[in-house]
Amino acid sequence: MNSRRPDDAPILQIEDLSVSFSTATGQVKAAENVCFKLYKGETLALVGETGCGKSVVASSIMQLLPNNAHIQGRAIYAGRDLLSLSEKEMSRIRGSEIAIVFQNPSLALNPIMRVSEQIAEMLQVRKGYPAAQSLELAGEMLHRLGLQGDDKMRMYPFQFSGGMNQRVMIAASMILSPRIIIADEPSKGLDGALAAEVMAEMARIKNQVGASLLLITHDLNLARNISDRMAVMYCGEIMEIGESEEIFSLPRHPYTAALLRCLPERGFQPIPGPSPSMIKPPAGCKFHPRCPNISEVCRRKPKMTRVEGRGTAPAGSESEIREVKCWRY
Ligand SMILES: Nc1ncnc2c1ncn2[C@@H]1O[C@H](COP(=O)(O)OP(=O)(O)OP(=O)(O)O)[C@@H](O)[C@H]1O
Ligand SMILES: [Mg+2]
Repeated sequence: MNSRRPDDAPILQIEDLSVSFSTATGQVKAAENVCFKLYKGETLALVGETGCGKSVVASSIMQLLPNNAHIQGRAIYAGRDLLSLSEKEMSRIRGSEIAIVFQNPSLALNPIMRVSEQIAEMLQVRKGYPAAQSLELAGEMLHRLGLQGDDKMRMYPFQFSGGMNQRVMIAASMILSPRIIIADEPSKGLDGALAAEVMAEMARIKNQVGASLLLITHDLNLARNISDRMAVMYCGEIMEIGESEEIFSLPRHPYTAALLRCLPERGFQPIPGPSPSMIKPPAGCKFHPRCPNISEVCRRKPKMTRVEGRGTAPAGSESEIREVKCWRY
């Protein structure tokens, strides 16, 4: 884990990011006024139920959204707004400075090239390393992720299982020592024990290269285990952001509390009411129709509010910084 001072400069700052898609049935509001900071060396988990907009946020940062997307806001990295860069400028940053692990590895791998060579090629092309050295380093990275042996080095993506290809994607994302890794459901397709192992190795490699990790997942326990902070998204908006352990012990937003109650070890209680429409979301706080703490004011839009204090830590310890988008704060 990483100790961070609140006055540290972030390595990535997302400011008022809004994304909508034009579709035959209307405008899908996939992200609305999303703001967060990613600090150097930290792991920030972006969590929330399926369809809440997590992948859309990741793809926006990398300029990988399809043409029907309308994007507003800024993503400041190294003093520049990534959202306004040309494709040529962005392609220089992608992979080498900011890498992404996609949700679906089979779409991102070249089917007719050995996996080891795909990773080695990145070092040759982007860093100018000689072929033999690149292949050796690719082999080492694959080994760290549990894919060792000469036979694995000779294999093509179709010879690997989905879980193995997912690990190949993780290896590929880290081989160029990027400053930021965006991992979208990186443990998808891996079963429990292996997922934990791969994620732990990913965290170790990330620490070694001094990268920051934006971890996108709907696995709350994974987020708790490997992230320093957590941002909780609902229907395109961040509802709460703060230190992961603190959020787990004292969720402040009613949605976060409801999400945690869905966990088997916390009672397995589903959130009552239907998921909101992304085309015509509820006015005001989007969670209000399902919220147990609803009041009249919730029909108006709440602002993100900074809540200080530490709910569970001993008196006198440094206060955490929590931000919550709810009228109760
Ligand atoms: N190209 C697109 N055109 C129209 N709507 C889209 C498009 N891409 C995403 N969406 C919509 O945007 C919303 C957010 O999608 P997104 O993929 O970001 O969700 P997610 O939080 O990553 O979900 P999951 O956990 O299932 O991966 C969804 O309602 C989705 O249907
Ligand atoms: Mg997704």
